Order: sequence, then C-alpha cells, then structure tokens
Amino acid sequence: MSASIQAIRGMHDVLPEESPRWQWVERVFREVSERFGYEEIRPPLVEAAQLYVRSIGESTDIVGKEMYVFTDRAGEELALRPELTAGVVRAVVQHGLLARRSLWRLWYYGAAFRYERPQKGRYRQFHQYGVECIGSPYPESDAEVILLAVAVLRELGIADYRLQLNTLGSPAVRQRYRTALVAYLESVREKLSPESQLRLERNPLRILDSKDERDQALLRSAPLLIEYLDAESREHFEALCRMLQQQGVPFELNPHLVRGLDYYTHTVFEFVSSRLGAQNAFGGGGRYDGLVESFGGPPTPAVGFSFGVERLLLLLPERTPDGAVEIYVARAEVEPEVALSLLEELRRAGYRAVGDLQRRSLKAQLREADRLGARLAIILGRTEWQQRRLVLRDLRNGQQWECPVQELGEHVRRILQR
Ligand code: HAM
Repeated sequence: MSASIQAIRGMHDVLPEESPRWQWVERVFREVSERFGYEEIRPPLVEAAQLYVRSIGESTDIVGKEMYVFTDRAGEELALRPELTAGVVRAVVQHGLLARRSLWRLWYYGAAFRYERPQKGRYRQFHQYGVECIGSPYPESDAEVILLAVAVLRELGIADYRLQLNTLGSPAVRQRYRTALVAYLESVREKLSPESQLRLERNPLRILDSKDERDQALLRSAPLLIEYLDAESREHFEALCRMLQQQGVPFELNPHLVRGLDYYTHTVFEFVSSRLGAQNAFGGGGRYDGLVESFGGPPTPAVGFSFGVERLLLLLPERTPDGAVEIYVARAEVEPEVALSLLEELRRAGYRAVGDLQRRSLKAQLREADRLGARLAIILGRTEWQQRRLVLRDLRNGQQWECPVQELGEHVRRILQR
C-alpha cells in the first residue's frame, strides 16, 4: 500500500459536521455588513510580494518570517495573502474607485496564510472576515467599524471578551516617540529578553507587547506614546472614546497596544478573550491614513478591522445552528418513487427534507432521522399508503399519528411552526 497523503500542517479541512457552524457565522457576517451598508469585495488570494512588503512592513514578523513567498514560472515574486487589507486597498486604487465616490464601505471574507508555528487558534491557513471604511478622517468612522464588530459579536452570542484601544498618533508623533523609546530601551538593553534585544534594531515598538516578564517590568518605566501626542491626535482619540461610551460599548485603554503591521496611524484596537489561551486576540484593526496614497491613490484616510474566523468559532456558544434536516421520509414496503415524489414536493415547499438511499429497515431509517436531527418523520407504510394516508412522528417526543395525504401540509406547518 502506498503512503497516504495528508493535509499540510496548520491547514484544516472543514468536515460536513462542522460546516453548519461555518455557514452560520458566514451568514451573520453578510447580514450585519449589509445592515451597516457595507458592500462585498473579493480580492485575489495571490498578490505581488512587494504589496505586503510596502504596506505591512519589511521588519514585521508577518513579512519577515511568516509570508508564503514563491516565484512563479515567469519569475515574478508572489505571496499568498497574509491578510486582506493590502489587497483591498490595492484594488480600490487600481480600479479608481475613489474617483467615482469619495467614501467606500467594504467587507470581505476569505482565507489568509501565515507560516506560523501551529497551535490552538493559530494556523497556517486561516480565515478572516473584515471591513474597511475608506474615505473618512473622522472619529465617527472609527466608531462605526467598532460598532459593526460589536454587532457581529452580539449576533453570534459572544459576550465574554474585552475591547482594547490605543492611539499611535500621526506618523510624526510615532517617529518622535520611537526615538524616545529606543533611547530608553538602549539604556537597559542588557536586561531585555534576547528576542526584544533583536527587535530593538528592527521593530522597537513591538517590544511594548512582549509577553516576557523581565521586559514587562522594564517597560513600566518606559516613556508612553500618549505623552507625545499632538493636539489633533489627542482630540481624535478622545472623541472616539466619548462616542463609544455614549453607545454603551465597554473598552479599556492599553497604552502598550501597537499591533503587528506598520500601516497603522492613530486608532488601533484589539478584541481579546481569556478563553483563547496564548493567542488571545481574535480580532484587530485600526486607522491607516497613509496607505491609499502609498499605493499611488489620492490621499485618503481609512479605518478597518478583521476577525480571525477560527478564533471566533472557538468562542461560539454551543447551540444548534439552523441548516439541519427538518423532515425525514421513511419508507416501509412502498416503492422508492413514492418517497421521491413526496420529497420533491416537500423541498419545493421550502423544507429541508431527506429520505433513505440504502433500502434499510424502518428502524434503521428512523435511527438515521434522529442522527440527522430531523424534527419530523413521515413514514410511508404499505397499508396506510393504499388508503392514501401517512404516518407522522414528532421526533422530539416520539408521538405518532396518521393523517390523509391532502392534510399533510397543515400538519407539517404546525410541527415546524411555519
Ligand atoms: P491581524 O491582527 O494581523 O490584523 O489579524 C486579524 C485577526 O486574524 C487576528 O486577530 C486573529 O484573530 C486572526 N489571525 C491572524 N493570524 C492568524 C493565524 N495564524 N491563525 C489564526 N488566526 C489568525 C490584520 O490582518 C489587519 N488586516 C486587520 C485590519 C483590517 N486592520 C485594518 N483593517
């Protein structure tokens, strides 16, 4: 026997028993996006690697260590997308969307790839749902995307989370702060963890969210970005905080939140849950006022976020999503054609209905109906069918009764409450 071929490490199949949960969250993404007036955009899975180098940043972990990069047959350097924001902004610029309309509300859903060490909630192929609101510099647009994220979580029944908020200020503020932070960290360099010592050259701001306890202790005396903010950045951030409070959205300020992508300016935020273990952030986003222009578009402010769908699924409450079979048509000594016709009629009326395809005993068929979670079984028995009567069984309580064929509709509607 030859060796079996397995899925790539960190890349997972969604098996039929899991897909109802996926379909349900996907339905919620679409419905909530539409409720907020967002339109769907679908950029490709593969882009020029340079797209990510120029936006996420060369010195970030995502671009430096985690990107799937390859050369195609024409010698072009391509990458599997590690996130979707860069592709969305590229598409907006390439197709001149901003010449048609000065504000775009966009949402997307799809796979992304990062070569990370797989563990609970961290995969090499994962899925993101997100939105990008492109064209407004005002804090009400930051508030809108956060309210949309909160609406998705409410709809999914996820309540046990915290929203963390910070501001990085303008690029000039960030640069001044970076200089001050590096000066401080240089003075304690020897005491930093080896990883943070490496980051000091490449990406010093990321040291702020180091999990190492020694680093954490040293950071308590580090300068804070908030002390370097200019009046405009401060006003923007305070206005956003006020709006969220007004709308009853709880949040906490985390002055060490910097995020792992270079394109952010001003607002950054993350959704975290202690139920996820080490990978506690299940969503994140922020403002990126310079990105559209850096891709050759007109200067255009923007803000957005993404959820990691696998992490959302880990947080979902146990509940039976819809989509399950409603009616099972069982057959005892009646021709298969009779069952086919009845099934067709039920499906045309909009019911999710299945029947037996293996010519099994009535007992086995009813066991299958239970396994599928059907609410109602319609049993075609030989003597009853000769009198054009059907046997109905309510599978929740086992109650069984008969009815003439022409009354079936009424009974089905009553049991399924339609
Ligand atoms: P991000 O924080 O890099 O932001 O990713 C967003 C979410 O994707 C994370 O919070 C996490 O739930 C999920 N995620 C990331 N890596 C993995 C992984 N290896 N396995 C499973 N889930 C993962 C962005 O990607 C930005 N584009 C968000 C954004 C949109 N900012 C502005 N607009």
